[in-house]
Amino acid sequence: MPFRKLTSRSELPALNTVREFPCGEKTICIANMNGTFSALDNVCLHLGGPLGEGTVEHGKVVCPWHGWQYDPRSGATTHNPNLKVAVYPMKIENGDVLVEI
Ligand code: FES
Repeated sequence: MPFRKLTSRSELPALNTVREFPCGEKTICIANMNGTFSALDNVCLHLGGPLGEGTVEHGKVVCPWHGWQYDPRSGATTHNPNLKVAVYPMKIENGDVLVEI
């Protein structure tokens, strides 16, 4: 799959926050954990909460609805490592944020 532009570097979330971005039919959650960005599927595996409207706490992305926590690198939930949201390759080039969906 080709990389496609998701947003601009200037739109990326601040340190230890998340933000959501539309991407075709999907929505992508970008997390900034200690300055490292990751691109996750935005839909919480519990009841579909928007991860990109949540928070980053202790290195985890926390769903705003009921607090499920996700590792931003693996996409795995804290309470069950077999439950994972997709994590997409991303890169920053010439001020553009590109993801491979
Ligand atoms: S929908 Fe995310 S924790 Fe319930």
